[in-house]
Amino acid sequence: MKDNRIPFKRFHERNERLLSQYDDTYFQRQHAKGKLTARERIEYLMDSGSFREIDAFVKPLGKEDEKTYGDGVIVGYGTINGRQVFIFAQDFNFMGGSLGVVHAQKIIKVQKMALKMGHPIIGLIDSGGARIQEGVASLAGYAGIFMQNVKSSGVIPQISVIMGPAAGGAVYSPALTDFRFMTRDTSYMFVTGPEVVKEVLNEDTTFEELGGAEVHATESGVADMIFSDEEHTLMGVKKLLSYLPSNNVENPPVRTLEDIAPSKTEKLSMLLPDDPNKPYDVVEVINLIVDKGSFFEIAENHAQNIVIGLARLNNQVIGIVANQPKIMAGTLDIDASKKAARFVRFCDSFNIPILVLEDVPGFMPGKSQEQNAIIMHGAKLLYAFAEASVPKITVILRKAYGGAYIVMNSKNMGGDFNFAWPTAEVAVMGPEGAVKILNRKELLEADDPEELKRKLIADYKENVANPYVADEKGYIDEVIDPSETREVVINAFALLENKVEQSPTRKHGNIPL
Ligand code: HXC
Repeated sequence: MKDNRIPFKRFHERNERLLSQYDDTYFQRQHAKGKLTARERIEYLMDSGSFREIDAFVKPLGKEDEKTYGDGVIVGYGTINGRQVFIFAQDFNFMGGSLGVVHAQKIIKVQKMALKMGHPIIGLIDSGGARIQEGVASLAGYAGIFMQNVKSSGVIPQISVIMGPAAGGAVYSPALTDFRFMTRDTSYMFVTGPEVVKEVLNEDTTFEELGGAEVHATESGVADMIFSDEEHTLMGVKKLLSYLPSNNVENPPVRTLEDIAPSKTEKLSMLLPDDPNKPYDVVEVINLIVDKGSFFEIAENHAQNIVIGLARLNNQVIGIVANQPKIMAGTLDIDASKKAARFVRFCDSFNIPILVLEDVPGFMPGKSQEQNAIIMHGAKLLYAFAEASVPKITVILRKAYGGAYIVMNSKNMGGDFNFAWPTAEVAVMGPEGAVKILNRKELLEADDPEELKRKLIADYKENVANPYVADEKGYIDEVIDPSETREVVINAFALLENKVEQSPTRKHGNIPL
């Protein structure tokens, strides 16, 4: 029963006025496009009844006398699977979710609260960018949001979910956050839209080609996860959060489940083909090491020659970086280096130990890679591993050649434990290449060059390209039976639980960007 005494009457009337903004057409406009409204998204994402809205009654600049509330963004806090988060959700139905001064102030307020209290912040983006009518003040609003994004980076997880257009200024806040989720067919991210492209470049293009979910998940790598509809996108966000600590002074959540070991770990020995030049799927290896069903792959469709993701090992969260031999033989190219480097830095920021599974024949050669600065991009991965102070373990499954061997968390780059399977080949380069360079003269002069080449390659494999040379020099700590990998790695991470690594005081390093 409503309390009808004067103060309460006013309170109830005000709340009713807020909700009366949403008539049938309000819902239909979003639903007709296959989209939920901002409030429906929040309700879907948060634990039932946990959301508390703040600043619901603020009014847009210049519309103080009108009965429009909220200025196109709903902000507040609540829980997801029992854990506190802050949230803002843009309302496309109000001036295209465009960002005016008051709209920006609301977002900045929850950003500040999330940072001060040490909880993740989630942004549901559905916006035409800077509100044109409010001019430079709306640009200043974006600047305030970006500043807060940068202050929060590495302190609290920041997740952006693109659920409609993210045009102009609306793209840069997501770009500064840790993860970007997108929904197929209904979400777009671009700095300039098709009309501007036509005007400036006289090129015809579409929303989808410029910045659809598919393009960003495959080509640009801007989107970390894409889903077929908004409900699945929001479920993906919940799942990601379940692996993350609330801030950088917490450890990731630990589970206490039993019966988590994958069955048939003995199959690990059989996964690698006899021919070292034949591919296999490293995701199968991952799934036979980590807790059953716990691998959560990130950026699955971009730079597929490297696999990254979160998983649980004996109920503890770890990050995985693995070369993928079935795509481009697992070579490291520009995109793979960037993808892995960013992930390593994310894990390091949030106290997530890293497991590297290595099978890499080298960096990708070629004009296009060199001219597009593989030197600087490859260096990002070197820098990220060297800088990371979380527990870091590498298991060399097969190839570990040249610069790529060094990069993938080798002993001398700070690997805490470096293991190898008996199938490992650790050397400056592969047998074929090495024999060509070292034995050019002998091969030219030989009566039967093919026979000699076969013998030289066999000698190289026996004497150089195996795990034992590195093992005997201490660059590998132990050669292990593949079937004991899970056990050995669990034990090694347990030993590393209290790892402390001090870095010299400095403002910040200068990562090769
Ligand atoms: C004010 C805007 C707006 C904006 C959309 N609207 N964008 N109002 N400022 N930036 C309004 C429209 O006028 C319209 O109002 C309503 O929102 C819905 O827009 P539609 O165009 O009808 O919707 P749709 O066809 O779905 O197209 C959505 C859209 C398009 C792709 C986002 O609106 C668009 O291209 N907007 C401009 C995008 C853009 O160039 N933004 C860059 C701003 S500059 P009515 O009243 O008719 O319903 C910027 C620079 C910042 O952001 C840089 C910082 C680094």
